Amino acid sequence: MVLFLWLFAASVLCVCQCQELDFPPGFQFGVGSSSYQVEGGWNVSDKAESIWDRYILENPDGIRNRSTGKMACNSYRLWQRDIDMVAEMGLDFYRFSISWPRILPTGFSNRISEDGKNYYNNLINGLLEKGIQPVVTIYHWDLPQRLQNLGGWTNPLIADWFVDYARVLFTLYGDRVKTWHTINEPWIICDFGYVFLPPAISDYAVGRLLCNKHVLLAHAKAWRLYDTEFRPKYNGQIAIVNQLTWIEPAGQGDEDIAELAFQDTIGRYTYPIFSKEGGWPQRIQKIIAKKSKEEGYDFSRLPDFTQEEVELIRGTYDFFGMNHYTSRIVRKRRNDETIHTYILQGSRELEIVFETRPEWKNTSSVWFKEFPQGFRRILQWVKRSFGDIKIYVTENGYASDSSSLEDYNRISYLRSYLEQMLLAIKEDGINVLGYTVWTLMDNFEWIDGYHSKFGLYYVNFECPNRTRTPRLSAKYYASVAKSHSLNIPDQDKYIVDKSCCIFSIYTFIPRLFGNGLTTALNEAIILMHL
Ligand SMILES: *[C@@H]1O[C@H](CO)[C@@H](O)[C@H](O)[C@H]1NC(C)=O
Ligand SMILES: *[C@@H]1O[C@H](CO)[C@@H](O)[C@H](O)[C@H]1NC(C)=O
Ligand SMILES: *[C@@H]1O[C@H](CO)[C@@H](O)[C@H](O)[C@H]1NC(C)=O
Ligand SMILES: *[C@@H]1O[C@H](CO)[C@@H](O)[C@H](O)[C@H]1NC(C)=O
Repeated sequence: MVLFLWLFAASVLCVCQCQELDFPPGFQFGVGSSSYQVEGGWNVSDKAESIWDRYILENPDGIRNRSTGKMACNSYRLWQRDIDMVAEMGLDFYRFSISWPRILPTGFSNRISEDGKNYYNNLINGLLEKGIQPVVTIYHWDLPQRLQNLGGWTNPLIADWFVDYARVLFTLYGDRVKTWHTINEPWIICDFGYVFLPPAISDYAVGRLLCNKHVLLAHAKAWRLYDTEFRPKYNGQIAIVNQLTWIEPAGQGDEDIAELAFQDTIGRYTYPIFSKEGGWPQRIQKIIAKKSKEEGYDFSRLPDFTQEEVELIRGTYDFFGMNHYTSRIVRKRRNDETIHTYILQGSRELEIVFETRPEWKNTSSVWFKEFPQGFRRILQWVKRSFGDIKIYVTENGYASDSSSLEDYNRISYLRSYLEQMLLAIKEDGINVLGYTVWTLMDNFEWIDGYHSKFGLYYVNFECPNRTRTPRLSAKYYASVAKSHSLNIPDQDKYIVDKSCCIFSIYTFIPRLFGNGLTTALNEAIILMHL
């Protein structure tokens, strides 16, 4: 009987509910990249060395196939082509990052590189000429090596060095750049930079948590600088960008550690900024203080904030910047089980292990499984945790080890993730204002070298001029942006697209029967459709 009702409802709804697939007016579409991953030009003019340049020189085997970012996509020379690609897709904005050692060769603001300054001026002006908004990340992992030699993110003075750097950028480009991202994925910078990613300093216990505090202070001081000195003139917006992985209980009884896992992964980088009371997530603070004591430390390894610092950091946002790729399930560590340090394997601090469900689709990156529903759920978590704030999805995209231009898997990923985001907007009232595909073109995927390709454009790395060619996904995404809807012309779909029906059923059946009853039914329906 239920099935019959559903079949009837579905056939009616599939025809008449497609307007549900429209994005809200003003919703923006863009694409992202980062300096070290695309620019190359690692030793041109007066550019100084970054921690990635140094790591690659000293640990060539630390990168898959001994690849380097010395040339990467050569965007240092080919930036005009990059602008053309964003324009070809008809997108609203291009998110890129500025290389700190390219613009400030000493690491400090005593000397600005003419060459670096001109490079970003050209890029920004070229985008604006084509009607594309530049969205600029101030720090996307390429710290000047000189500052690393002085302690990097474990030295509290870095907050002021970062602010000096940010002031240079606001002064040079603030008249034209209206959206700034202070720091990209501080969780990766600290929790993995003090384990195995450059600077690859092995100090999980203390270095990681000093870094945690100082990235927050650096972000907050830069935000306040913009707020007081530059916003009155330029009226832009600025926020930090975090990577959020959806984490759900592995089984019954794991609910509490799932919430704890959020506090340890996302919470240490978001509560101090976005929570009403500010400061560290309290349960994590207590756990680390207790463990530190047991381990014989005279202080908590998670450094305290003074009340002044709590107030300095609290509320320093204009929106919530969210990178999202994947999901995990979480359970307690079993006796004698090692928690690996690779990305998203668990938390050694909390002795919890992350896993994935076998039915989640693989991508070419070991840390990355496909689970679109996790996207909606993590958006709901942000609203639950921090209220009804503006959200920009600053990264979302798909990794493949194939160079093929016919990237149906990527289109399928984008469609299903966009659909979940649309459900979050329309059904859960979550205030998502923009979406960014990671990434414009295949590029240097950090320690994975050129193995994992995330690009809407294929780049021929065998060819000295790094020819870029659009994949089908670039055409698909262009069509979504143009239609301002997931309901796009049939010739642009490239895959079997039942999103109209799935969307209708997702939204309609819960209205009829209530949410509880229909969860299982929905899952069954999705399976039938896919
Ligand atoms: C820059 O690096 C390249 C290798 O990537 C090398 O061939 C070239 O000589 C270097 N240029 C300078 C000025 O050091
Ligand atoms: C490894 O790098 C070399 C160039 O250094 C390239 O020719 C080769 O195709 C790469 N191998 C793989 C498996 O990517
Ligand atoms: C993903 O890859 C693993 C290991 O290769 C395999 O066991 C698993 O079946 C794959 N999962 C799916 C859903 O294809
Ligand atoms: C790229 O390089 C190839 C061969 O090296 C050449 O034939 C082609 O004209 C170049 N394309 C551009 C846009 O420079």
